[in-house]
Formats: sequence, C-alpha cells, structure tokens
Amino acid sequence: MMKTLQLNHGDHMPILGLGTWKSQPGDVYQAVKEAIRLNYRHIDCAAIYGNEAEIGQALHECFEEGMVRRDEMWITSKLWNNAHAPEDVQPALEKTLNDLQLDYLDLYLIHWPVALKKGVSFPESGQDLISLKELPIAKTWGAMEAVVDKGLAKHIGVSNFSTTKLKALMDTARIKPEMNQIELHPYLQQPDMLEFCNQHGIHVTAYSPLGSLDRPSELKTHDEPILLEDIAILRMAERLSVSPAQILISWAIHRNTIVIPKSVHAERIKENLAAAEISLSPDDMRAIAQLDRHRRYVRGDFWSPEGSPYTQENLWDE
Ligand SMILES: NC(=O)c1ccc[n+]([C@@H]2O[C@H](COP(=O)([O-])OP(=O)(O)OC[C@H]3O[C@@H](n4cnc5c(N)ncnc54)[C@H](OP(=O)(O)O)[C@@H]3O)[C@@H](O)[C@H]2O)c1
Repeated sequence: MMKTLQLNHGDHMPILGLGTWKSQPGDVYQAVKEAIRLNYRHIDCAAIYGNEAEIGQALHECFEEGMVRRDEMWITSKLWNNAHAPEDVQPALEKTLNDLQLDYLDLYLIHWPVALKKGVSFPESGQDLISLKELPIAKTWGAMEAVVDKGLAKHIGVSNFSTTKLKALMDTARIKPEMNQIELHPYLQQPDMLEFCNQHGIHVTAYSPLGSLDRPSELKTHDEPILLEDIAILRMAERLSVSPAQILISWAIHRNTIVIPKSVHAERIKENLAAAEISLSPDDMRAIAQLDRHRRYVRGDFWSPEGSPYTQENLWDE
C-alpha cells in the first residue's frame, strides 16, 4: 500500500504522484494510462500545462474500463495567474474540470503568488502584471473557499508561497490552506519552510524532485549543477542497487513530503513508483542533508520583466 498523508475530513493523499508539466499532449495520454495501470493513484495537473484535455481523456478511459474508480484517484490542479480576480476563479476551475472530465478536484492550488492581467498567459512587460496590493491573495482566496463550499474542490492550497505569505494568508483565511507545493530536492531543502508548515498543519509537496532537467532552456543557467549527476547521490544509488532518481524520490518520502516526479516514459514511470518501497537509513538521510545549497531551478524570474511589481526578493521573501 502506498503511504498517504491525511488532509481535512480524513481524506488521504497518496504521497507519490505523477507530474505533468512539459508532458506533451501527444505523450501525456499514454503516460497517465500507463501510470494508473501501474498503480499510481495521484496526478498533478495545472491549466497552464496545456494538456488537461488529454489527461481527462486518459482518466475517462481508465474509469470506463473499470481500471480504477474516481474516488480512488487524487487529482490536483492549479489556478493560473491570469484568473486571480475573484469572479474568474470558478470559471477557471470549471474549464479545468471540463478538460479533465471530472465533477470535482481533490486539491486546487493557487499556482503562484503573482497576478497577471486577464488573457495574459506569460508577461512580456511589466504592464502585463498586477501587483498583490491591487489584487490581494486574500481576495483570490475568498473565491477559492467558495469553490470548496460548492463541492467543486475538496481541498485548497497554494504553490510557490513563502512562509511570510502563508502567515498572511492564514490570518484572513476561513478555510486554512492545506498544501504548499514548492520546489524541494537535496539542493533546495528548505528546512525552515518544512518546520513552519509542520507547525501549522500545512502539508508540503516537493516539485521538480529530480531537478527538472527538461525545463525550457530560458529557465536554465549555463553553469547549473545537475542533481541527477550528483556524485554523492550516484554513489548511494550504486551502494543500494537503485537508481539516482529513486534515491531522490525516496528522500522526499522519508521527509513526509508529497512528491510528484514527471516522466512520459513507461520504464521511468515504473521505476519512480518503485522508489516508494526503498528504505534510506538515518545515515543516508544525514548524508543527503549535507548536499543543501539553496539552488532554485525554477526561480520565477519570468515574473520580473522590466517595470514589473515583482522581484526575486518580494517573490520569495528572502
Ligand atoms: N507548482 C509549480 O509551480 C510547479 C513547478 C514545477 C513543477 N511542478 C510539478 O512538479 C512536477 C515535477 O517537476 P518537473 O517536471 O519540473 O521535474 P522533475 O520531475 O524533477 O524532472 C523531470 C525530468 O526528469 C526526467 N526523469 C523522470 N524520471 C526519471 C528517471 N527515473 N531517471 C532519469 N530521469 C528521469 C524526465 O524525463 P522524461 O519525462 O523524458 O522521462 C524529465 O526530463 C511537474 O511535472 C509539475 O507537475 C509544479
């Protein structure tokens, strides 16, 4: 049985899910069907990934074929930044539900603490962004709470939020955020964030757990260290007769964080799931703790074109 974390109302979220960012529409259909066949019960989606309709087709067929029931699956999706205005939240969720061919989501997240003007997918200039002063997260959150009341999402949370932003949100929220989905791997371990979330009953999802090597080249720097080639990880993998990716996934699970590795290849999808069975010793965990270097692969500098109200400092509050 896959380990789960317990959310409100006793709902259980499988600790390992399939990531779908950058999974091409032509590939993601097969990837999701294969994952479910192999016993994945959790898929991480987002409207901005541009592939929810193909994922919906795969889910629909899996339900129809009796491979799995809807209530056995955990489906997460995310509100894109151009729909933060309260009146836009429910329509954005309805579009996602329609694409995914679902009546409800298990978890709906605010994708980024960044607001874009209506109709803008990615900003080209500062004019395309709206500051959080003008369109506060608290307003967006009110509409997130309303979709829970309507039964369209069972749980709500956020993504890419700092502890400062989580605190501010908890001060005004009627329904507390249950999840913060953030970048987490041995090069970006964020121990203070984990401690904060643990104290406040917020679960954490580790995104880009393998170092997100297939990110678009604009999001890369030429000198970045490659997590999957880290010598300590490679040696540990060899000693335990597992793959480096499996060490990274197992490490996330040992920290009690949800983890959502992305792959569109059947053998890797299988390998990643099998990582849930691997046991790392306290010594292994301590050795990996040494690798932390606060290296963000997804820095969010795309929110800071000239004239933007967003900077690296006010995005991450660090
Ligand atoms: N909330 C957010 O802002 C946010 C940001 C980033 C990511 N996410 C979520 O987190 C998920 C995972 O993050 P990510 O996609 O950035 O990166 P990731 O899961 O760290 O890495 C994906 C890359 O690793 C490769 N890979 C997968 N399994 C492997 C294995 N066993 N051995 C070697 N390589 C392997 C994949 O290749 P193939 O596919 O070719 O196999 C792909 O190139 C996303 O898909 C998305 O659902 C959320």
